[in-house]
Amino acid sequence: MGEPAKSIERDRDFTGAVLALRGLTAVDLERVNTTILDHMQSSVTIIPEVAGHLINAGGKRLRPVVTLAAARALGYDGAHHISLAAAVELIHGATLLHDDVVDASKMRRGLKTANLVWGNKESVLVGDFLFSRSFELMVKTGSLKVLQILSQASCVIAEGEVLQLATQKNTASTFEMYLDVVKAKTAELFAAAAQGGAVVAGASEAQEEAFRQYGLNLGIAYQLVDDALDYAGNEQALGKTVGDDFREGKITLPVVYAIAAARNEEEKAFWERTIGETRQTEEDLKTAMSYMKRDDTISRTLACARQYADNALSALGQLPGNEMTTALADLADLSVARAS
Ligand code: IPE
Ligand code: IPE
Ligand code: MG
Ligand code: MG
Repeated sequence: MGEPAKSIERDRDFTGAVLALRGLTAVDLERVNTTILDHMQSSVTIIPEVAGHLINAGGKRLRPVVTLAAARALGYDGAHHISLAAAVELIHGATLLHDDVVDASKMRRGLKTANLVWGNKESVLVGDFLFSRSFELMVKTGSLKVLQILSQASCVIAEGEVLQLATQKNTASTFEMYLDVVKAKTAELFAAAAQGGAVVAGASEAQEEAFRQYGLNLGIAYQLVDDALDYAGNEQALGKTVGDDFREGKITLPVVYAIAAARNEEEKAFWERTIGETRQTEEDLKTAMSYMKRDDTISRTLACARQYADNALSALGQLPGNEMTTALADLADLSVARAS
């Protein structure tokens, strides 16, 4: 009797929601993966080596699955969503290669980062290659609108990463500045993934906008949780190093809240030294985490993420109810409690 209840329980977590969506789109996703592998090939052998290191390490394939599910939710039965989903994941891969250089990160998808194994130059250039390949795939959808959505998303992501450099180490950064970075660097691609899926399916303007709002709000929630997990997460589950944001002096929401909650000059000086000047000792991350625990800044970040996840659910409410939209709703709902 205990077994079925247990498996229902297991399905009600974020990993279960991702697996459910991947299951519903399994045939399409297989074609997307083949398309991605085909498009990372080059006679310059280091390119497939570096790209394959990242792509074969897995990743959750969240964004392409959102594209596939959006198209299918609207009854699409053509093939353009495959090229589109592959283009979306290639853009994601390109940004990860670039992001790990910018953030000096050492672990990604449970493996050493490409910048650590091959070097920064190789990572940047192979990232550029993947970006370019993604444009080849967008063209294959035959839709100028898709091309416009994804090319704009690529610009906005780059803007977000540059904007983040401007807020980095700036202890006066506000929630609004942080949110601008998050929307641009992360949420825009989720928005484009969902909207693009709707566009290839010939959606009405209202449906297209509802999917865009779903993606945008899911993306914001997703990055807020990621920023909480950068302090409170488990490295093995995440496949990324915990504490990267602190070491880089990134102003994320747990830090914005912690700085605002500093109780005296000594605590303010702590944040100024560790984040403002990135002068840190071994003990500092632990101290930062103890302030965050005392002032609930992780749970407040997750509460904020919950609001965006709820916005994503409201957007879905305007779309046809079917197994795809139900699975997309679970993804948004459970993203706030994710551990990986
Ligand atoms: C990592 O994205 C970058 C963020 C927006 C936090 P994912 O968490 O989707 O990474 P993979 O693709 O599953 O590795
Ligand atoms: C993710 O930013 C956004 C992009 C990759 C463009 P982060 O720097 O927070 O993501 P992780 O933690 O490296 O995955
Ligand atoms: Mg990073
Ligand atoms: Mg992060």
